[in-house]
Amino acid sequence: MKNFKLNNGAGIPVVGSGANTYGKEGNQYSGALRGDTQEIDWAIENGYRHFDTAQAYNNEEVLGKGLKKSSLPREDFFITTKLNTFKGFSGADWAHAEIKKSLEKLQTDYIDLFLIHSPWDNQDEILEAWNILEDYYNRGVFRSIGVSNFEKEHLDLILENGKIKPAVNQIESHIGKWNEELIDYNKGNEIATVAWSPLSGIDENAKKVLDEIGDQYGKTYAQVVLRYQIERDVIVIPKSHNKERQAQSLDIFDFELTANDRERIAAL
Ligand SMILES: NC(=O)c1ccc[n+]([C@@H]2O[C@H](COP(=O)([O-])OP(=O)(O)OC[C@H]3O[C@@H](n4cnc5c(N)ncnc54)[C@H](OP(=O)(O)O)[C@@H]3O)[C@@H](O)[C@H]2O)c1
Repeated sequence: MKNFKLNNGAGIPVVGSGANTYGKEGNQYSGALRGDTQEIDWAIENGYRHFDTAQAYNNEEVLGKGLKKSSLPREDFFITTKLNTFKGFSGADWAHAEIKKSLEKLQTDYIDLFLIHSPWDNQDEILEAWNILEDYYNRGVFRSIGVSNFEKEHLDLILENGKIKPAVNQIESHIGKWNEELIDYNKGNEIATVAWSPLSGIDENAKKVLDEIGDQYGKTYAQVVLRYQIERDVIVIPKSHNKERQAQSLDIFDFELTANDRERIAAL
């Protein structure tokens, strides 16, 4: 697996597994936990070592259980989780308690990448939350820290007032919404972009173009779009409830797109 070097020197595998519906009834985001770790087990068997979860997904324990079950050493894995800020920030005590729960559910004493899940409308609180993440980073509990769904103005707030630069901004990026400007802004500030929902937005027309490109290399439309992102240093976290499709999303390191292929994909 190829690693991308973050601005603090840590490596992040360029393909990770999304996990927001793993372990849930009906593969639904709001589904109750089934109690098994099927998708995590398959992903590990397929070779995934980077996993993306969040407090808001209510399934950190599925990942923790799956990783433990694999018997592989903790250092083999790269775990991302996120502070649930969808309802804003409920103070330092709340944040510490939520972080403690994440560590317990993930059955680990450190997290590779810890993100603020989403910005909210209070700059002082965003900075307070960021200072808490910085503290965990300085103590080695978080190996890298970053943000998610942050726009330019939110990034500026942290870049101007924080002591540590975010290593990552995890944002929506896929066909129909590449988020090009923000990716460039991240890059200009040495912040790596992780693309969420990387396989979204592929309509029949896009599929046709991607399949045509993929036919040259014996690859599927999904593999082509994931390859496009990693060739421009955008890290991807696709998820699938199907073991073969999980494997396909990881099998993107033995071909290269041409400049013409990239132009056609960028136009989709
Ligand atoms: N930070 C945020 O706010 C945020 C927001 C959304 C998502 N995320 C993260 O991003 C992860 C990925 O996004 P996502 O879950 O929305 O969707 P996605 O990875 O874009 O996948 C969408 C669908 O594509 C299918 N698929 C997967 N691999 C495929 C392949 N090789 N070929 C063809 N189809 C394939 C899957 O269906 P099948 O299961 O049927 O294969 C899946 O439901 C999430 O799981 C989560 O960890 C973060």
